[in-house]
Amino acid sequence: MTYTNEQIGALVEPARLHRSIYTDPEIFELEMERIWGSAWIFIGHESQVPNPGDYYTLNITHKIPVVMVRDRQGEVHVLHNRCAHKGAKLVDTRCGNARAFRCCYHGWTFNTDGSLLKIPNEGGYEGTGFDIKDPANNMQKVAQYEIYRGFVFATLDADAPDLKTWMGGAIDCFDNLCDRAPEGEVEVAGGVLRYEHDCNWKMFLENLNDTMHPMVTHQSVVQAAEDYIATLPEDAVDQRAEAEIIPPFGASYEVFEDSGITGFEFGHHYDGGKTSIHADYTVIPAYGKAMVDAYGEERTKEIFSFNTHNTLYYPSLTIKTAIQNIRVVRPIAVDKCIVETWSFRLKGAPDEMLQRTLLYSRLINSSASMVGPDDLEAYMRIQAGNADTSSNWIEMYRQFGKDQELEDRTVGGGTSDLDMRTQYGAWRNYMTGAYRQGEAA
Ligand code: FES
Ligand SMILES: [Fe+2]
Repeated sequence: MTYTNEQIGALVEPARLHRSIYTDPEIFELEMERIWGSAWIFIGHESQVPNPGDYYTLNITHKIPVVMVRDRQGEVHVLHNRCAHKGAKLVDTRCGNARAFRCCYHGWTFNTDGSLLKIPNEGGYEGTGFDIKDPANNMQKVAQYEIYRGFVFATLDADAPDLKTWMGGAIDCFDNLCDRAPEGEVEVAGGVLRYEHDCNWKMFLENLNDTMHPMVTHQSVVQAAEDYIATLPEDAVDQRAEAEIIPPFGASYEVFEDSGITGFEFGHHYDGGKTSIHADYTVIPAYGKAMVDAYGEERTKEIFSFNTHNTLYYPSLTIKTAIQNIRVVRPIAVDKCIVETWSFRLKGAPDEMLQRTLLYSRLINSSASMVGPDDLEAYMRIQAGNADTSSNWIEMYRQFGKDQELEDRTVGGGTSDLDMRTQYGAWRNYMTGAYRQGEAA
């Protein structure tokens, strides 16, 4: 069927969702065009391309290839990965370093800022009216790209609001992630975990601040970790530090309720703030000292007292400020996506901090970990169950009607469905064109 805007709008009610948003390939194609083709999408971190000529490739939607590249002057660009001649994808490796990009087909060659450098046997164009200098013969720049504290975002929509406006109050979490570095900057470290999920891309995002699931889904691993901790002698400091990462996933409904959820325009949200399940990690003394030396006692306290668990920048990026992990979703098809985990080094912090970040990633996010695969099992079952037609609706009623509307944000209980309602409010606005027409509900 071809959906009208009215029909699309009817799939998302204030507290219910129609199951077809997870199963209909036509809805998926519309999402790629209207959400992923319009929102700011996370591309990468500039530390992935530290030197002139360094590049990194990816798809900005399910099928539009782009390349993030640092040009010879040191500026980072996000370019369409398409040869201006007959459209061949120019760069076919994930990452590397190039003096220029040379097309595999007829050898058109482009500078690292995208400008056309050379066409072989150029004389054939003389007197034909073909203008080699026409910018249309360059690799095209993505409509807008911006860097915020080293994080590179791009949007295919020339009319999208600027990145900071789009992030709104959720920008505080980005600042907190970077401010946790004594030098105020982070850099990618320790590689990437990348694995394919057999489910719709939205399930990963919905799970992020779904605080009603950990005590159920992760019960077995929490129990196993607690049993293990009970066997540890007093002086097993290292083992204890590792094991203490797991039990917070079994925190009670009350703990999660108290941490609260905060939602923003454009679908962003975070849980925690005053406190989160990451609030009680032991501060490594050398790290504490480096922070106080850099910021002073008071500011350091302030930075550590903003404790969020997960933040979503809808639709592509999720960050854990206190852990320095980010996870990125890349849709492939209606029932397939890739989730990547990247880890960051806090510049100026002792190495133990990065070790903890990587440990967290291995224990929680890796496909061979003890927590992430529990979630993946649930996503795959939701995908399978929603093929069934006995019921068309999925509810998001928890604490509905109790959300508190503040000037630039909505706040509510930590076990509410505020996160779902925030995401799907944005989904509806993107999908029906309401943002574009200034009619966002
Ligand atoms: S398609 Fe690239 S040079 Fe012809
Ligand atoms: Fe989970």
